[in-house]
Amino acid sequence: MRIYHGNIVYSKNKDELVELSNGYIIVNDEGIIEEVSNAIPEQYKNLSITDFGDDVIIPAFSDLHVHAPQYPNRGIAMDKLLADWLNEYTFPLESKYKDEKYAKEVYTKFVNDLVKHGTMHVVVFGTIHNPATDILVNELENKGIQSYVGKVNMDKDSPDYLIEETDQSIKDTETFVKKHSNNKYAKPILTPRFAPTCSFELLKKLGELSNKYKIGVQTHIVESLWEKEEAKNCFDGCRCDMHIYKEAGLLNQKPFIAAHFIFPSEEDIKLLKECNGCAVQCPDATTNVIAGIMQTGNILDKGINLGIGSDISAGSYLGIYRQVASVVRLSKIKAFYEKDIRTVNFKEAFYMATKQSGALFNKVGSLEKGYYFDALVLTDLNDSFNKLKPAELVERFCYSGDVTNIKSRYMRGILINKD
Ligand code: GUN
Ligand code: FE
Repeated sequence: MRIYHGNIVYSKNKDELVELSNGYIIVNDEGIIEEVSNAIPEQYKNLSITDFGDDVIIPAFSDLHVHAPQYPNRGIAMDKLLADWLNEYTFPLESKYKDEKYAKEVYTKFVNDLVKHGTMHVVVFGTIHNPATDILVNELENKGIQSYVGKVNMDKDSPDYLIEETDQSIKDTETFVKKHSNNKYAKPILTPRFAPTCSFELLKKLGELSNKYKIGVQTHIVESLWEKEEAKNCFDGCRCDMHIYKEAGLLNQKPFIAAHFIFPSEEDIKLLKECNGCAVQCPDATTNVIAGIMQTGNILDKGINLGIGSDISAGSYLGIYRQVASVVRLSKIKAFYEKDIRTVNFKEAFYMATKQSGALFNKVGSLEKGYYFDALVLTDLNDSFNKLKPAELVERFCYSGDVTNIKSRYMRGILINKD
């Protein structure tokens, strides 16, 4: 058991950000929080204390949508729109992952950098290649990062150098699922890329795998107006993007993760809610290559689970804290230009990136009793001439901070190095 002292900030729900100046967190030997309080409880008086002084302790972040193989392209080709960006930059890069050595090099750095930025739970796309995606799974598993990892499926309207035969795609997916199903931390998830590159036959067969192995699904849903229209060609009578996944039997298992969800119809919303799925806002990707802004406040008000993703490399920055700031910023732009849209405040965006996103994993995303001590210690954010409160320091970190402000990282109560 150990006690941590510092300023403590975490979300209880989307409207309540707990701020405890000079607080104590008592963590047991399994790395689980026993108590959070503003004095050391009597029975813990003899425990050793790690004192972070004026620094701020917050929960580690979760990234619910990121493409690990696209890491080498982060921050370039940002003047393209989705279809050109995919064809000219993203697909050629992803084809390199037939080379396992290349995969190992990138994925090692990607996973190290995730942790460096304070992201300890992740839902991630690989590529169509099994051996490379196995490497990604193993990197995450060995680092103990709670994650869902997908081998990508794509069998139509894709370049010759990055396309699968339908049956081979299913065979490879089944092999991937079986291989990793008993992992402790890095679990497999089905990953049809998005409707335009997947035949309905492929999706139906993935639906069978989903139900046979009780395995969830991640994909891109109504991410652009082009994609929304394209999706309707999937089969005769297709009404909307989510209708495809329903008909294919892909909405029965947990989790269902819908990246973007920018242009949903009423039916998309109804179906996502019915399967208790999770939408993921990727604000930087949205502005860089996708050209659409999510109705974040309205989605939250409808009671839909809503997390945040970096969406590297349509998104350009791996740190989720910057995305928290972008969620607030974009909601203001949307509310300014459109009717019946409300803005989102910092509390809500921070909640999305921590407790709400963390709910996909095991006991992470908050610093309440019963949660794992997956936490970051933030430093060097205050000014001598204008003392800010702990919650303000966290907001400043999200807008103006970087990795140098993360002084320590704890995963399940264990201090971890960034390298
Ligand atoms: N839609 C299909 N593939 C992708 C991808 O790799 N990134 C994003 N942002 N959208 C996609
Ligand atoms: Fe994406």
